Amino acid sequence: MIKTICYISDSSEYESIDKLKTLYLKAKANNLKHNITGILIYKNQNFLQVLEGEETIIYETYKRIENDSRHKNIIKVINTTIEQRIFEDYNFGFTVIDNKQGLTNLYDYLEWLRGAENKIANKVITMVENFIDSN
Ligand SMILES: Cc1cc2nc3c(=O)[nH]c(=O)nc-3n(C[C@H](O)[C@H](O)[C@H](O)COP(=O)(O)O)c2cc1C
Repeated sequence: MIKTICYISDSSEYESIDKLKTLYLKAKANNLKHNITGILIYKNQNFLQVLEGEETIIYETYKRIENDSRHKNIIKVINTTIEQRIFEDYNFGFTVIDNKQGLTNLYDYLEWLRGAENKIANKVITMVENFIDSN
């Protein structure tokens, strides 16, 4: 069964580019190893992350992330099972987005996905688009 968890959070303090890069590399390596797909967006000191993968792996990974002191005020927005991963075909599975071009590319992908009329996918898309627009 494929599980997806989506959350938003605030970065703890001003994270330097170097520190963020270290975080991204770790997240990417771990997620590749565990077949976790999704996105991590960093915008105006807020994070939004979508994790997709095998149930136990997603819970364990989320627990680790939740306890990470590099962010706070974590709000789980979506926690559900899905029939199909949304981000499997996007940029090799797991993407970190922290610049304008990355956001534009993501926006295009999400607009394209909307056509699929998948209920959960559309919920995730709306959440991501709101985050991008409101921040
Ligand atoms: C905003 C944020 C997002 C993160 N995303 C992931 C992630 O997608 N996958 C992951 O394994 N760790 C992620 N981490 C890091 C974990 O909290 C934790 O440091 C890491 O999984 C520990 O890995 P290790 O046990 O291999 O050292 C994230 C941390 C933060 C602050």
